[in-house]
Amino acid sequence: MKTRTIILAVAAMLLGLASLSGCSGNGTTDAPSFNDVLTSRRSIRSYDATKTISEAEVRTLLTKTQEAPSWANQQPSKYYVAISPEAVAAVQDMVGGNKERIKNAPVLIVSTFEKGKSGFFRGQQTNDLGDYWGAYDNGLSNAYLVLTARAMGFDTLIMGMRDADTIRNYFHIPGEEMITAVIALGYRAEEPKSPVHRELEEIARFF
Ligand SMILES: Cc1cc2nc3c(=O)[nH]c(=O)nc-3n(C[C@H](O)[C@H](O)[C@H](O)COP(=O)(O)O)c2cc1C
Repeated sequence: MKTRTIILAVAAMLLGLASLSGCSGNGTTDAPSFNDVLTSRRSIRSYDATKTISEAEVRTLLTKTQEAPSWANQQPSKYYVAISPEAVAAVQDMVGGNKERIKNAPVLIVSTFEKGKSGFFRGQQTNDLGDYWGAYDNGLSNAYLVLTARAMGFDTLIMGMRDADTIRNYFHIPGEEMITAVIALGYRAEEPKSPVHRELEEIARFF
């Protein structure tokens, strides 16, 4: 009886340790650490054709992306999600030379921002940047998107090379929205190299 109790206690202890070691601090057991998310997110240019992503997963991703800050909480970013085989095939033809890179990505997301919101107050431009603030907010939102995607186990490619006119027609995107990038979402089929980053001294000055 005593031996059985000791075995049970040791097993419980080991189980507890195992769950702690996988804990990233957010209460879940197998979520990657923030540092892992940052360093493992890379632009992926080859996707696993055998894996799919559900609409529910994309909805979760975009809901989390909404945590991004924006000018006066204007939230100018919008997303058009190609997830049906027909829509994905259509958008593959709208990303120029990127087509081959993203041919097996199951989801392609068009990112836009509404002009005249961020950087404006009662219709008036508030400072020199004007609609650049919308682009700023959209970039922040995209950054949240690609990092959240990585945290969910997905991979991405942001594509600035895209045919904005064809995309606008296909998704009926109004003229008030500026089309920025198309973001491929899927699972990596390659281990990408890390790019070389500039020396900190080149990009930051301390006073
Ligand atoms: C606004 C923007 C546009 C980009 N456009 C493309 C593109 O059209 N095709 C492509 O292969 N990569 C594109 N990239 C990916 C960059 O080349 C990549 O982020 C950069 O080389 C750094 O690599 P990393 O993302 O793996 O850190 C784009 C990235 C950004 C942020």
